[in-house]
Amino acid sequence: MEVLGVDIGGSGIKGALVDVKQGTLTVERHRIPTPQPSNPQAVAETVAEVARHFSWQGPIGCTFPAVVKHGVTLSAANVDDAWIGTDGATLLSQTTNCPVKLLNDADAAGIAEMTYGAGKGRQGIVIMLTFGTGIGSSIFVDGILVPNTEFGHMEIRKKDAEHRAASRIRKEEGLSWKKWGERVNEFLGRMEILFSPDLFIVGGGVSKRHEKFFPYIDTQAEIVPAQMLNEAGIIGAAMAAQGLSS
Ligand code: BGC
Repeated sequence: MEVLGVDIGGSGIKGALVDVKQGTLTVERHRIPTPQPSNPQAVAETVAEVARHFSWQGPIGCTFPAVVKHGVTLSAANVDDAWIGTDGATLLSQTTNCPVKLLNDADAAGIAEMTYGAGKGRQGIVIMLTFGTGIGSSIFVDGILVPNTEFGHMEIRKKDAEHRAASRIRKEEGLSWKKWGERVNEFLGRMEILFSPDLFIVGGGVSKRHEKFFPYIDTQAEIVPAQMLNEAGIIGAAMAAQGLSS
């Protein structure tokens, strides 16, 4: 079964058709820069443009980089504040004329990794963290997701963890891999005290360069890089939407 998966990010809106039984893209990804300002109407029109690119009429799974409860976006750390309190799922359904499932981006990436990637078949407590513009999180207990965890906003040294250890901060502050890796390690240490996970999955673009900073990580739990890289959000979103009827 094919479903359109769309990943809404701070800089790009990316979509592809997904074979949800195989967890693979069936076409090449289509990317459009995120409109600025990234207000709900402008973003919804861009998602509709992605759907038109694939002449798609059917269920759409769509990620969003914030808390999403029952289709309503409740936060906006790295997108336009106008999203707070918006019924994003309904807006996107109306704009695309398709049924839409909207979910948090890290939750979607986690769903894909747990089914087809680094967390496949893993029981116990698995925490996936995505390091990018912000830090996204998802936690699975025996394969079941507890959504909207927002661990990136945990306070460390009087700052949001993502303001110290997101991938963006490494570049903005010109941190060495060691310095940044130590910040990530401190964050993971706090996660361990609270959740005693069995496995950490590290996602986001920086996971491709994991050998640069994994040497500075000394968690008790096993830690592995994500396997699906920038396709995880699209695939997880499509998987979450497969129950919708077209
Ligand atoms: C948001 C999360 C999101 C993460 C990654 C954070 O700033 O609060 O909801 O998952 O960034 O995009």
